[in-house]
Amino acid sequence: MEKLVIVSNRVLLPRERSARAGGLAVGVGYILRRHGGLWFGWSGDIAEETSTTPRITRAGETTFAAVDLGRLDYQEYYSGFANGTLWPLFHYRLGMLEYSRQEFDGYRRVNAIFARALASLVGSADLIWVHDYHLIPFGAELRQLGLKNRIGFFFHTPFPAASVLELLPQHEVLIDALGSYDLVGFQTEQDLQAFQDYIVTKAGGSILPGGVIAARGRTFRAGVFAIGIDTQKFARMAEAAAYSPETVRLKQSLTGRRLIIGVDRLDVSKGLPNRFEAYERLLRNWPEHRARVTLLQVAPRSRTEVASYRELGRQLEQAAGRINGTYAEFDWAPIRYLNRTLSQKTLAGFYRLSRVGLVTPLRDGMNLVAKEYVAAQDAADPGVLVLSRFAGAARELDGALIVNPFDIDQLAEAIHQALLMPLEERQTRWASMMSVLRRNTVSTWCDGFIRSLRNMSPQELQTKSPDMNRQQSRRSIVLPAVM
Ligand code: F6P
Repeated sequence: MEKLVIVSNRVLLPRERSARAGGLAVGVGYILRRHGGLWFGWSGDIAEETSTTPRITRAGETTFAAVDLGRLDYQEYYSGFANGTLWPLFHYRLGMLEYSRQEFDGYRRVNAIFARALASLVGSADLIWVHDYHLIPFGAELRQLGLKNRIGFFFHTPFPAASVLELLPQHEVLIDALGSYDLVGFQTEQDLQAFQDYIVTKAGGSILPGGVIAARGRTFRAGVFAIGIDTQKFARMAEAAAYSPETVRLKQSLTGRRLIIGVDRLDVSKGLPNRFEAYERLLRNWPEHRARVTLLQVAPRSRTEVASYRELGRQLEQAAGRINGTYAEFDWAPIRYLNRTLSQKTLAGFYRLSRVGLVTPLRDGMNLVAKEYVAAQDAADPGVLVLSRFAGAARELDGALIVNPFDIDQLAEAIHQALLMPLEERQTRWASMMSVLRRNTVSTWCDGFIRSLRNMSPQELQTKSPDMNRQQSRRSIVLPAVM
């Protein structure tokens, strides 16, 4: 019988699931709760060598198959190429872009090891869904091993413009590897268009009807599948959390001040320095807000082995210290800055309590915090979302105050406007966003992707066998053997 196989860099084992996790974990968690199946990826542990046999754990209808990463593989594949090269590239943080050929080889090596570790767990009828930029060559590696399954790939990140992508020395290798998938999904139309533009202008390919891509001897389908949240469930959770001990404590501690909230991984793409600067400018330009608002910024540390992330941590500590030092009163601190993870339930209550939600990344695939913030609001007295136009969520949530996070003055003005916004306008904006979120949910995303992959016609599902790879290497498709 067909089962669903989910592959992502990191597997969140059942014991870790209660902690707040990123969009990928929320999405994959939902898929597996709904469909059951197998979730394969890195355990989060580092060992001497990358394990070739996964550790199996079962919970309900889901099997978790996790491998440890060897120290060198962790450095080259995860910290190096995935997060030191691809992540800044895909998020237009080009000043942070680092590249080494050795790390690229490490990236390909880990993809090959992972593919071998998974292959024996896959049945011939299984549907395989691979997630995110760590695993672009994974499908090609499975094909090399002879797998003929339907295999889909989804980018949780943005997809950069062709002229940005080609800064990467091996951009052709990665794009060619995508041709081994049957279906490639993107968060927004803009991402899909960037990909199609690359195919036409850089890869000499064409876009056929129905979103079919034909490039360098391969055909596959590419489409938009915007990730969402379980809107109803999140709204119910927020309603209940409004009276949780944590929310009550937070409310008491505010002593009537308005709460502004930001929740982000401590990541170079999230625009946190700009946000802090804008908040400082708000306090400088509109003194009436001093001692009347509190910014709660939750920012769990992330990828601390990457130098730019450590530097970001230092920068934010300094900024928070400076702002508090300048504006704090003996009974009020402008910023509460927490490098900790809070549970989804706790956050849901905090979102509902806050008057303003700040989601201001410099670039983001989707950003589910924006959607959760809206879903958590009380219809009778909703808060205002200030949202970066560079988050995928801005394509759907047009009731937010849309800002360019590079414009600090605009960002400060938007926070000011949000704090002053009359109830009626807050309600109108919220209702329009909420109706979008009721329509586009996590289930729309996951069912849409799985249906598209499952329903592809036999003609569309070309046999992507090793022969195909050989034939293509004659046409300059470059997938050299991995050491
Ligand atoms: O798409 C964003 C992403 O890289 C996900 O793959 C991942 O779940 C999340 O960010 C957290 O990142 P990391 O696994 O590097 O801690």
